[in-house]
Amino acid sequence: MKHVYIKTYGCQMNERDSEAVAAMLRGRGYAITNSENDADVILLNTCSVRDMAEQKALGKMTMLAQLKRQKPDLVLGFMGCMAQSRGNELLQNPGVDLVVGTQRFHHVPDYIDQLVAAKENHDLMVPFRIVDVADEPGSESTIRDHVLGTNGDRQVTAYVSIMQGCDMYCSFCIVPYTRGTERSRPINEIVNEVQQLVAQGVKEVTLLGQIVTSYGRKTIPKKSGKSAFVQLLEAVHEVKGMERIRFTSPHPKGFGDDLVQAYRDLPRLCEHAHLPVQSGSDRLLKAMNRGYSRDWYLRIIGKLRDARPDIAISTDIISGFPGETEEDFEQTVSLARDVRFDQAYLFKYSKRRDTPAADMPEQLDDEVKERRNQLLLALTNDFIAQRNQQLVGQTVEILVEGRSEKGGKRFFGRTRTNKIVVFDGDERHRGALLPVRIDRANTTTLYGDPAIHNL
Ligand code: 5AD
Repeated sequence: MKHVYIKTYGCQMNERDSEAVAAMLRGRGYAITNSENDADVILLNTCSVRDMAEQKALGKMTMLAQLKRQKPDLVLGFMGCMAQSRGNELLQNPGVDLVVGTQRFHHVPDYIDQLVAAKENHDLMVPFRIVDVADEPGSESTIRDHVLGTNGDRQVTAYVSIMQGCDMYCSFCIVPYTRGTERSRPINEIVNEVQQLVAQGVKEVTLLGQIVTSYGRKTIPKKSGKSAFVQLLEAVHEVKGMERIRFTSPHPKGFGDDLVQAYRDLPRLCEHAHLPVQSGSDRLLKAMNRGYSRDWYLRIIGKLRDARPDIAISTDIISGFPGETEEDFEQTVSLARDVRFDQAYLFKYSKRRDTPAADMPEQLDDEVKERRNQLLLALTNDFIAQRNQQLVGQTVEILVEGRSEKGGKRFFGRTRTNKIVVFDGDERHRGALLPVRIDRANTTTLYGDPAIHNL
């Protein structure tokens, strides 16, 4: 049996794609391994959103090419976003046999079969290599297979891919070019997948897509003022046994009154919303082509907090977008102070090929980006630590996902607001919705004690 090792870079969508490819390969008789040393095939599922992510995968491939000198039959491949945007160009990296783009993941088993067979046929005069970065109608429905509980443990949470692509064209972002145009799966197909997951013991799903709030807007008409995305949330909410529903990643523009109302109406929709603001300056929001103003963003946060007072808000912010002045940056700082995010993912602007922002004048020096990024980090961490500290002494509900990485008796779960809680637990807690009393907290983790010991 041939062994395949898949290394994933980037977002949850990439994790989900890798998991689906793993499931397809298993179905074809391959074993999935966690160690590159006993692999016959190594696939890097890549990310292009910032240059750093691309450099990491390219560096990894250089190391793997060295390994291949001792193991000439090793099959090496790139999949995903960087494969899509660079295509053939990636064959210039030594050792690469396979390049598969974001709409063709489901062809990976065929391609691996062919490459393994070619390696066994040592008469081949020229190396046999495959590049496939074509578009494929219907590919949004191909990410559906799951591997649950790889090491025999029950898996409690799962990702479900509901759509692919993005038509927003934010001026900094490469995603429309790597993931293609918006394409959504039908509601019934998604509901079926969620039902199957429940039957296998899953208690929480995260609905995934590059821009989930645009779900179905081309194919599913509005019903009683409700967008296709809200109709989908309602349909998933009906599935018996699915205790918690989350989604990512949305666009702030997608938080219409129907979605705000869904937070009131759907108790199993977790009280957490990720609203990537990117900047607090109206001038920059315009240059970024975000389609909302600072005021409008703050109004949405206000509406969500009215709908669910305990809602946690997380965000993404870019520092050092071309032309960002100190005044623009101050606007972002003041917005962060106003909102007091529960979690913030902070990025230095990275120039991406094909994007309008890459050609804008006034690209900023790395020192400026770094300084602003560090300032925001200190500020947002401060708020996060304060908020977490406020939870000390309170009892919150967590869904227990499994053993903490540190092992021993440590288990971990997540609050409905998406905060991680570590506690001394037991196998019988896995999959339980458990009240825990928070004993202490830092910026990343809460530590708790099960409030009911005989559960
Ligand atoms: N540079 C820096 N950050 C970026 N992001 C997207 N494109 C870029 C870029 N060119 C960030 C945005 C987005 C998150 C997923 O990545 O904040 O919300």
